[in-house]
Parts: sequence; structure tokens; C-alpha cells
Amino acid sequence: MRKVNGCDGYFVYYRMVLIMKLIDVNAKTSSYRVIISAGLMNDASTYIKKVTNAVNIAVITDDKVDELYSNQVVNVLSKSGFKVCKFVFKHGENSKNMQTVTDMLEFFAEHNLTRTDCIVALGGGITGDMAGFASAVYLRGIDFVQMPTTFLAAVDSSVGGKTGVNLKSGKNLSGAFHQPRLVLCDINSFNTLPDSVFAEGLAEAVKYGVICDERLFDRFSGDIKGSLEEIIAGCVQIKADIVSHDEFDRGERQLLNFGHTIGHAIEKVSDFKIPHGFAVGIGMVMISKAAYRLGFSEYDCSEPIMSVLTKNGIPVEFNCTAQELYNVMIKDKKRSGNSIKLVLPQKIGKCFLYETNVASMYDFLNEAMR
Ligand SMILES: NC(=O)c1ccc[n+]([C@@H]2O[C@H](COP(=O)([O-])OP(=O)(O)OC[C@H]3O[C@@H](n4cnc5c(N)ncnc54)[C@H](O)[C@@H]3O)[C@@H](O)[C@H]2O)c1
Repeated sequence: MRKVNGCDGYFVYYRMVLIMKLIDVNAKTSSYRVIISAGLMNDASTYIKKVTNAVNIAVITDDKVDELYSNQVVNVLSKSGFKVCKFVFKHGENSKNMQTVTDMLEFFAEHNLTRTDCIVALGGGITGDMAGFASAVYLRGIDFVQMPTTFLAAVDSSVGGKTGVNLKSGKNLSGAFHQPRLVLCDINSFNTLPDSVFAEGLAEAVKYGVICDERLFDRFSGDIKGSLEEIIAGCVQIKADIVSHDEFDRGERQLLNFGHTIGHAIEKVSDFKIPHGFAVGIGMVMISKAAYRLGFSEYDCSEPIMSVLTKNGIPVEFNCTAQELYNVMIKDKKRSGNSIKLVLPQKIGKCFLYETNVASMYDFLNEAMR
């Protein structure tokens, strides 16, 4: 938190009051609020009590976030009367699998969680995706609250109800739609994020600008850390609007996959050494380049995208062959039968869905990589 003339406390209050952002997500299956502000962790129980009558709360977190924030959250929840237990898993994409979710489910049962109890996902996208999935299947569905601690989770994964795990064949191949009851985004938690993890979230945030908001895209050339609440709120509002029209990913929501079809393949080919956000960044550049060269775009959108990404320390290239990526992409779950839907930019601020046969993906990859 910045200091202003030594009036730290006053400034914190001023910032809290003025910069708390509230966004309502009205999905078909449920409605919930996303709250974005600095210092929210300390008030977690106040907000959580408004959405649940739970007696028990299971906090799910990874080992890194556990060291940083779980004591604070567990204490706040315990002090307000919840009976709190905590499940910690090893951070990283290698943990995002059925075994970890099975361990969570056994943990819930051992701690006698009932259908009216609640799960709190405290962490990044991996924590939220797995805790959400475990909540979707435990006793056929119990409430969960997202407390995103990465920029990526804040702008993307904590909202919209997509939960799941990876299979050996690829990313997020198993999962469920299960909306959270509440999303509490404490932007102070980003202070401890390594630069590279922050930058990953930025790539997903840039995606929103490219798909439907040129003004949001332009913000990424300015002071990002100084307007985090506004940027996160801008991204979340776009996602909320899209999810309210297409919760189950049958149409418009697929626009959010911009950069992801190639991005997921990059993650897999790199054996997850390229993390999700960076892979999406490279995927956005590649698909934009290919779209322009194949005549789908008004201009080469890969140029402004690359400029924003490199300015923020996000890689824009990955060294592999088109064949390697293609082999992985034909297993992408967004494929239906022999066709695949690609998200292509017409220009910055406007993307569209383009359905093509899987084989023609090879042409896109070749164009992107030549
Ligand atoms: N469900 C969706 O709609 C959706 C959307 C986009 C991405 N995703 C998924 O999200 C995942 C990526 O999310 P991520 O980038 O948040 O990864 P992550 O959860 O692994 O977090 C990244 C790293 O940052 C650490 N970390 C988290 N918060 C921290 C903090 N405040 N300070 C210091 N370190 C912290 C974590 O321990 C981890 O090592 C991928 O698995 C992706 O598939 C899901």
C-alpha cells in the first residue's frame, strides 16, 4: 500500500471506500458477487457469512500460498465462529489431477463436511479449479467461495464456474461447471507474487482487451499496477456478461479461448515448463499472425499484442515444430468431431469464432511459424 504524507491509515480507508469494485455475475444456474479491493482477506468472514449457513469450512490452498496467507484466512474465519480445516497440496500443474481431487474429497469426508458446509479456494487458478471441482462432486455439490491470489485467477479462473483437472492426454480434460457463491479478490495478495506469475495473469487480462474492448487493451500500455482494481473489474465485467449469455460454453463464451487452443498445446509440448499465462500469450500472437496472413484480420493484430506483452516481460515465441503442436491440438477438447472452433481477431477489440476442420489447423500453425 502506498503512503501518502504519512497518513497511511486514512489512505487505506480512502482507497478501500473509493476503489472497492463490485460485479454481479448472473449465470443461469446461480448469481453471485465478485468483490475486488485491497485488504479483503481481513473481512472474509463478513462476506462469506452473507452467502452461506455453513458450520464447517474447508480451506484449500497450495503449499506456497499456505505459507503466506492461510493463517490469516483461517484465523479470520475461526474467530467468526466457523469450524475450519485446511487441505494443502503441492503447488504446480503436476498436482492438478484426479488424485489430488480424490485426496480432497476424502479429506472433506474425514472432517464430516455436510451438504450445507462450504469450501474456500485460497490461491491461484490451480487451487480454484481443483477446489471448485471437488465442491462440484462432493455430496453431488456443495458451496464454494473463490479467493483468488494470482492476477490470472482474479481476472479469469475464479469467475464463471469452470472447474476441473488435467488428464495425461491434456489440460483441463475433466471437470464440471460449478459456480462459486462468492469471489473475494484481495489485491494486496498480489504484492507477494513473483513478477513472472503476475505477468502470466497479465497475458489473460490482455486477452479480454483483444476480444472485445480496445480501451481496456490500451490500458496495458500505461500504469498497470496503479489501476489494478479497474483493470480486474474491466476483465471480470466482460466475463460476467459473456457467462450470463452462455454459461455452458456453447457459443459466445468460446471467445474467451482466444490464444488457448495453441496455448494449451504449447503447455503440453513444453511439458508444462511454459506456464499457462505465457502459453496463452504466445498462442494469441501465433493465432493473430496466422489470421492476418490467411486474410481474416483487418491488420496484423500480433504486432500490438506483442508490443504489450514484451513491454511486460511476457514471452512471445516458443521453439517447436508445427507438427508437434498439431499432434497435441487434435486432442483439444474444444474439437467437435472433425471440426474445431478458432477465435480469430478481426481487429483489437473484436474477435470472432471461426469453425474449420481439424486438418486446416496445420495451415494456421504453418502460417504462424513461418
Ligand atoms: N477455470 C477457468 O476458467 C480458468 C481460466 C484460466 C486459467 N485456468 C487455469 O488456471 C491455472 C493457472 O492459474 P495460476 O496462474 O493462478 O496458477 P497457480 O495456481 O499455479 O499459481 C501460480 C503460482 O503462484 C503461487 N502463488 C499464488 N498466489 C500467490 C501469491 N499471492 N503470492 C505468491 N505466490 C503465489 C502458487 O503457489 C503457484 O506457484 C491453469 O491450470 C489454468 O488451466 C482456469
